Amino acid sequence: MTDLFPTAIEKDAVSRVIRTRRSILIFLPEKPDSALIEQAIDLARWAPNHKLTEPWRFYDLGPESHRRVAELNAELVRAERGDGAAKNKLNRWLGIPGWLALTCKKSDDSFREKEDYAACCGAAQNMMLFLWAHGVGMKWSTGPVTRDPEFYNILGISGEREFVVSLFMYGYPAKTPDPKRADVREHFTLLP
Ligand SMILES: Cc1cc2nc3c(=O)[nH]c(=O)nc-3n(C[C@H](O)[C@H](O)[C@H](O)COP(=O)(O)O)c2cc1C
Repeated sequence: MTDLFPTAIEKDAVSRVIRTRRSILIFLPEKPDSALIEQAIDLARWAPNHKLTEPWRFYDLGPESHRRVAELNAELVRAERGDGAAKNKLNRWLGIPGWLALTCKKSDDSFREKEDYAACCGAAQNMMLFLWAHGVGMKWSTGPVTRDPEFYNILGISGEREFVVSLFMYGYPAKTPDPKRADVREHFTLLP
């Protein structure tokens, strides 16, 4: 055993953070400090990634891009569900304190791209767990706005070189949903 490994108390803390993290939908107004977000992104990058491609790109949205994304999303909602729904969605999104997009580098090799996407998902989980340990909740989103060309323009990226893995909303939770998972034995087989 070396000091690389956590103490017994730290081990319990890791389990607790993994088990208690929830996707958060309703936030307090205060925006978490950008230094904390940068620390989370720094740690996210320690996820395993095959061939060390480091395929992840993170974009923390400032006030202007936040507003543009909220307006774009409201336009998409308007087309589907009308003015009232769009107005409600706009107000809701404008009131969410933090927004962060995670994209993945595209690859000519489809298997590599799949591996790179997997690596980005590992990075996302690192980030979510670190922030949860600091009291910050996130929600991963792959809604229609994340596939809209204008969203790519707002991020300032080319869809030929990157694709969106998630648009995360984040902040201090105002409400934490109850956990839901099936019994582990339903998803685990011990082979001889
Ligand atoms: C790839 C991926 C895409 C997701 N997209 C959405 C989404 O578009 N909207 C949403 O409300 N939640 C989304 N989620 C969050 C899941 O709904 C959430 O993780 C699930 O309900 C389990 O809740 P928990 O994270 O609190 O354990 C997504 C999660 C993943 C991994």
